[in-house]
Amino acid sequence: MMSDTQAMSKEVLAAILKGIDEGIHVVDLNGKTIFYNEIAAKHDGLDVSEVLGNSVLNAFPSLDEETSTLIKVIKTKKPIYNQTQSYVNVHGVQIETINTTLPILVNGKVAGAVEIAKDYSRLKLLSESLLDLRKKIKKPAKKTIKMNTVQYTLESLLTINKEMQKIKNEAAKLAKSDSPILVFGESGCGKELFVQGVHHASSRSNGPFIAQNCAAIPESLLESILFGTAKGSYTGAVDRPGLFELADGGALFLDEIHAMPIELQAKLLRVLEDGMVRRVGSTKSCQVNVRVIAAMNIHPGVALEKMQIRTDLFYRLNVLTFGLLPLRERTEDIEFLAMHFIKQFNRVFNKNITGIGNEVNQFFKRYTWPGNVRELKHTIEYMMNVCEKDFLEEEDLPVMLKQQIQSHRKDQPARGLSLKTNMANLEKELIENALKQTDGNIKRAAKLLEVPRQTLQYKLSKYKIRIQEENSSSLNE
Ligand SMILES: Nc1ncnc2c1ncn2[C@@H]1O[C@H](COP(=O)(O)OP(=O)(O)O)[C@@H](O)[C@H]1O
Ligand SMILES: [Mg+2]
Repeated sequence: MMSDTQAMSKEVLAAILKGIDEGIHVVDLNGKTIFYNEIAAKHDGLDVSEVLGNSVLNAFPSLDEETSTLIKVIKTKKPIYNQTQSYVNVHGVQIETINTTLPILVNGKVAGAVEIAKDYSRLKLLSESLLDLRKKIKKPAKKTIKMNTVQYTLESLLTINKEMQKIKNEAAKLAKSDSPILVFGESGCGKELFVQGVHHASSRSNGPFIAQNCAAIPESLLESILFGTAKGSYTGAVDRPGLFELADGGALFLDEIHAMPIELQAKLLRVLEDGMVRRVGSTKSCQVNVRVIAAMNIHPGVALEKMQIRTDLFYRLNVLTFGLLPLRERTEDIEFLAMHFIKQFNRVFNKNITGIGNEVNQFFKRYTWPGNVRELKHTIEYMMNVCEKDFLEEEDLPVMLKQQIQSHRKDQPARGLSLKTNMANLEKELIENALKQTDGNIKRAAKLLEVPRQTLQYKLSKYKIRIQEENSSSLNE
């Protein structure tokens, strides 16, 4: 008999496996399928009943002991992560999946294997058409129309913070160099704007500027997007240039570079070193002239420590490095930028807001702005939509921030920031807690607090703490 909890977890598992977007295929030690969901059946163009209960090699005649990842994992007991698989199913449809195959261990012994398959044919199609589109856009760029180019200049990066101004000036000076650039800073603090500004100020500003977020694309696709593909490199592959070739004569902005797989980083390093790119599946290399600009939203030190970026690549990129400050570390910029966005949205919404109420202004200075300038910009945009007066007031704040300002008000006024008052309050609270625990026994409370009894007695009178329990007689111990 199954217990209720067992039955429950079985149902939960079944519901999850039914609901997810991945194909799941489980085999036992003999390679017989014991679980196979609808999505997996859809990938393979088969019916669940054709596979379930059948051995893998029977259900998929094109596979053998060598090529079946499920069988391989049972033999080697080693997991295989994110392997791309490209095949034509029984209905002649080209399927591309990314598979992870794991051994199932029961009490340390292999009992079978599970394969989790993500379909990425559609995603791939989408990325590839994007690439084709970019290629089309690039052509007229050689004539007079400028596309694939930047929207911002360094002047668009507004700041009254001394350090940020210094960074801006330095960037303007160094923009002319061809060295790679590394920019880091929290999300929303202006990295993309900065990078576009640098490109605009460079001698390549007439060349293309192409941005690619390395975290937005599955690993195996990123390589062909960046380097292109040669016909026949995998089933259905066509000759296609990658972003490096498309950015020739300009700049390639690789955002969130720390999300790029380590092996691909090695390939990137080689391009940085000799400027040669080789399409996936090709034997020929071609020379490109591209300035690489990389960005990440974590500190390079952290990325290195977590091994998200190769040390050699880091030192290659680290020639010109800029760290943009989060908004909370340049509080003077908050009101300054808020006023700028108000003016900007006044034009868009055809409004005439003149400023921010004092209370909101004070709150803006205290708030941590985890989303940085992007969050500030959206906040102002929201507030200007709801505001019916001339000033942005507390009532116009988005719900989340309204809650913050209210909870802050509850804590703050009584306590203030005085270290002495807060320490005294904390001390009093700790003593009261200790006395509660010992039913008012001072000797034991002093022991809990790890102070001499005399000290505790002194503090009791200092804070006018009265002992209520009958044990208060111990005062006279
Ligand atoms: N210093 C700034 N002055 C004006 N607008 C800014 C500034 N910094 C950021 N922004 C705006 O904030 C938003 C987020 O900036 P973005 O460059 O995309 O940040 P990141 O790439 O660091 O996430 C954009 O709309 C950008 O125009
Ligand atoms: Mg960004």
